[in-house]
Amino acid sequence: MQKRFTRATNRMPTSGATGDERPDPMELSGYEVVVAVCGGIAAYKTATLVSALVQRGCGVTVAMTDAAQKFITPLTFQSLTARQVFTSTWDAANYHDPQHLRLTEAADLFIIAPATANVIGKIAGGIADDLVSTMVMSTDCPVLLAPAMNTRMWENPIVQRNMNVLRELNYREVPPGAGWLACRTIGAGHGRALGNS
Ligand SMILES: Cc1cc2nc3c(=O)[nH]c(=O)nc-3n(C[C@H](O)[C@H](O)[C@H](O)COP(=O)(O)O)c2cc1C
Repeated sequence: MQKRFTRATNRMPTSGATGDERPDPMELSGYEVVVAVCGGIAAYKTATLVSALVQRGCGVTVAMTDAAQKFITPLTFQSLTARQVFTSTWDAANYHDPQHLRLTEAADLFIIAPATANVIGKIAGGIADDLVSTMVMSTDCPVLLAPAMNTRMWENPIVQRNMNVLRELNYREVPPGAGWLACRTIGAGHGRALGNS
């Protein structure tokens, strides 16, 4: 069975059941997901997302930007995934197999959550200057963005232009909704993919 979440169809996985069996839509065993955590206040919610994926049977590998580590530690994700957490382009386990290439090779889906205004801009501009942005640049795996930021940032025409560039390039998104923001206001920019708190 083709297990990749494809860009063409945005097909979500099934358990592979046939006939009258009802596949459990929450069962994701056998899937490999890479989660990139960026430096937004919603980074703490990504721990819940990662835990939920692991509980549904996914193998989850986490990469973090430097800014993400100001909000939540690699140890949290290491504990939740029982896997090494990757934070640098320069820590390749094998010199012939750099991790910006290796990490997404087996992945069915690459989630960026939260996707900051910064990483959205970097991807749209073709910049690959850290592990996460270099992984994006070097993967053929479907990428799902979960933007989360302050309303003024989200509504900034530059951010919107960058999102439009990525939409045209078939990047998937879970668009932010209106909700409680870390700046203690209610507005657009709330990362819906990451829960309501
Ligand atoms: C307290 C605090 C909260 C922040 N929250 C967000 C956020 O929710 N979304 C966002 O796009 N940037 C946010 N930023 C700004 C990013 O941390 C900053 O742009 C950083 O360079 C992002 O780096 P990265 O994309 O490599 O993770 C926040 C910064 C601070 C200090």
